[in-house]
Amino acid sequence: MKPLTGKTIVLGISGGIAAYKAATLCSRLVSWGASVRVIMTEGATRFITPLTLQTLSRHPVATDVFDERDAAVVQHIDWADAADLVIVAPATANVIGKMANGIADDMLTTTLLAATAPIIVAPAMNVHMWEHPAVIENVNKLAARGVRFVEPGTGQLACGYVGKGRLAEPEEIAEAAAAWLTGPRPLAGRKVLVTAGGTVERIDPVRYITNDSSGKMGFALAEAARDYGAEVTLICAKTDEKPPGGVEVVRVQSAADMHEAVLRRLGAVDAVVKAAAVADYRPAVRHDAKIKKSGETLTLELVRNPDILQAIGEWKEAHPGERAPFTIGFAAETGDLEKYATDKLARKKCDLIVANDVSQPGAGFGTDTNIASVFGPEGLVESIPLSAKRQVAERIWQLAAERMNRA
Ligand code: PMT
Repeated sequence: MKPLTGKTIVLGISGGIAAYKAATLCSRLVSWGASVRVIMTEGATRFITPLTLQTLSRHPVATDVFDERDAAVVQHIDWADAADLVIVAPATANVIGKMANGIADDMLTTTLLAATAPIIVAPAMNVHMWEHPAVIENVNKLAARGVRFVEPGTGQLACGYVGKGRLAEPEEIAEAAAAWLTGPRPLAGRKVLVTAGGTVERIDPVRYITNDSSGKMGFALAEAARDYGAEVTLICAKTDEKPPGGVEVVRVQSAADMHEAVLRRLGAVDAVVKAAAVADYRPAVRHDAKIKKSGETLTLELVRNPDILQAIGEWKEAHPGERAPFTIGFAAETGDLEKYATDKLARKKCDLIVANDVSQPGAGFGTDTNIASVFGPEGLVESIPLSAKRQVAERIWQLAAERMNRA
């Protein structure tokens, strides 16, 4: 059986040189059993003919929203309703901008606005366009609405530049489509919030207190949640890692910033995972000017930071009628895992707590792997042996999804 048999995919092609690669993508989707309806913008038709796509898809290609051939239906609504998935490949900066702003001025953007099916966007453009703040904002806006991006590759671009902006390979886009349509989606329809990275507590303009969190565990959780069908917001403190595509990224610095960013979103999310390493203390005074060297010793006074995880638990108690997020805390320990983790679970009123012994090789800060013990109110739920952080993340979400669905 072909993996996409019975699935209808609307393939939107916009006007960039990479439009020619959409022919290979269309052909691959058809060979995997999908029924593919192609919509081309006027620009796309300058790069590749509708006849090519009609021949490959074995269906008429739509290019004009007013070209209504069947009086029984309104074509853009009919195709939007029929779609199990919409793919836009290549997606130009222009079409991404229109999607982000709800503009519907041709067959493709009108269908996109009418579609309720999941959407995969594969951008292709010049590297400077891809890095333009307007494009970044539009991409983030769409990601926050659940649009999944298959990120462009890096290499020689048609415009002569070398950089990021080349359309992902048709094979990769087809695989993302197949994974979306056929993979497990235990978080479909859920909104989740993930925190990642280490907070930064400023001493003066050039010095700060932070920790060794790389953000990898939080990013793996955000990526796995995205692939499981959730709309993901990633609140991200200090990290050198690149966040996953297809999620809304909110950058913060300090524990206070993270506290504000998380609390502001409560009531609008179904789950919160606190994988970030949050400083328990911050300098009592943040100096505006660099502290000058003076005596032989320097004493820095620290004051307590808000406990964000605990604040979520308190918010849930104070708002009984509201959408209460399923709360997953982390516990970074160096021994006595069960004792400390279950104490944190109870004190911070979590639904699950993931304890990692950060003194073990392959676990905790900075590594690509982790070793975790997941505790619930009833005690140990599961021990996850040394595995890639992505696998640990998947297991955590599977356990969480089971409990969320039960509740
Ligand atoms: O980022 P990586 O390099 O991949 O490393 C992953 C990790 C080791 C950072 C991660 O797996 C982890 O354990 N994160 C939690 C680190 C931590 O702050 O643990 P804690 O035991 O000090 O805090 C317990 C929980 O309370 C955590 O969910 C933490 O986010 C939260 N907390 C802590 C303090 C505070 N002021 N507010 C909080 O919300």
